[in-house]
Amino acid sequence: MADAKKKVTDQIILDYTNMLSDAVGPRDGITERQLKKMEARAAEAHWGVGEQRRAGKLPFMDLPYGDYAGPIIKYAADAAKTFDNFVVLGIGGSALGPIAIQSALNSPFYNLIDKKDRKRPRFFVEDNVDPERIGAMLELIDPKKTLFNVITKSGSTAETMSAFIIVRDMLMKKLGAKGLKTNMVATTDSKKGLLRDIVDAEGLRSFEVTEGVGGRFSVLTPVGLLPAAMAGIDIKGLLAGAAAMDKRCASGLLSRNPALMGAVLQYLADSEKGKTIQVMMPYSNALRDIADWFRQLWAESLGKKYALDGSVVHAGQTPIKALGATDQHSQVQLYNEGPNNKTITFIRVESFRRKVKIPAAYKNVSGLAYLSGHEMGELLNTEETATEIAVTANKRPNCTIRMPEINARTVGQLIYMLELQTVYAGGFYGINPFDQPGVEEGKVATYALMGRPGYEKQRAEIEKISRATRRKTV
Ligand code: PA5
Repeated sequence: MADAKKKVTDQIILDYTNMLSDAVGPRDGITERQLKKMEARAAEAHWGVGEQRRAGKLPFMDLPYGDYAGPIIKYAADAAKTFDNFVVLGIGGSALGPIAIQSALNSPFYNLIDKKDRKRPRFFVEDNVDPERIGAMLELIDPKKTLFNVITKSGSTAETMSAFIIVRDMLMKKLGAKGLKTNMVATTDSKKGLLRDIVDAEGLRSFEVTEGVGGRFSVLTPVGLLPAAMAGIDIKGLLAGAAAMDKRCASGLLSRNPALMGAVLQYLADSEKGKTIQVMMPYSNALRDIADWFRQLWAESLGKKYALDGSVVHAGQTPIKALGATDQHSQVQLYNEGPNNKTITFIRVESFRRKVKIPAAYKNVSGLAYLSGHEMGELLNTEETATEIAVTANKRPNCTIRMPEINARTVGQLIYMLELQTVYAGGFYGINPFDQPGVEEGKVATYALMGRPGYEKQRAEIEKISRATRRKTV
């Protein structure tokens, strides 16, 4: 009974009142008629997703029920006893998920906490090929006391593999082949890819990216779960939260399925109301990197030139991340008065994990005394309410994801809801949310310019264009 009650109080809620015409007027808000008209399409999209799932084509949806949490927890508990540092080498979907979970569920100053209290290795993610950053990280850590986790689904991404080669070389020089085996763990495809070949040839320890799950949908595979477990995060709670959201999204009725409703609202806002931008604005520092993770999910999944029928559509809303209250002093001026071309998705945390009271001071200064006795969390949420009121008054459609608190279960729900929302939206746009030909284009150009064999033709083409282009500089 107590457990059932906990599940209810744990639920995250999508409040979409201010997306509707009643709140922001019929020019900018979605009307009851428009919503009603989408009901059949929504039910059809939901049915289509169910069919694909049953046919085994949407394995990300079954991740909450996977059986890999146990081995990951065990591996991480053992490794945590040996290592002082844990470093992820990955990019895109192989980095943003691990970062988002760590930021949401551990202290913002995690790496600075005294080792005896932290109990787990310090946590780093190297997701760029910036020599200054990676050079500084390698200078900081003691390789003997560091576990590196190279994460790449394809096993060939230039940024990740170059970092891997650098670190491998360092480990070989400092610790030898045995050290490489103890201090490097790979997360990659179970069968395919250069990294899988290396893992097999060099006898490295590895975890598998679940078959058929692409980078930006992989946070609940070992891609996100191993780093989370290394940092002592309750990965079973994350999966349980995702499973709870999966159950809540079992209905094809808009009024019962928050992911479906979220997708319909954003799709209508974009296609019917010209809201080509979606701002995600958590009022919580811990959730800022969730907005960053979502930015990739929404952008790469929906930003497509071609529809499934081959027509040119140039679909996709541009996702932007902002942080409340910080960006009230940076972005909100634009959101209130600039072009009315956005929706705003606020994330609000009802109960913060820490209470910080503003003490009584300056009793005689009315401009400050009013703050006394209030809590920081109360101030932050009041600012969220105030921004909601202001943007609504300015007829800017907005919705709020309400989280009772930030914990593994609520973060699991949020992740799953946003992933599913993205897939439903892909259905409405008529595009494939799981490919990324625009990313591949850039990867191919990098391979060509860096001299990878097999890309000579592309290199010649790029060089021809480059010769023909007269650069204009000033
Ligand atoms: O979502 C995706 O598929 C991409 O963003 C990838 O995660 C990113 O390109 C990195 O790819 P990989 O994990 O193969 O190195």
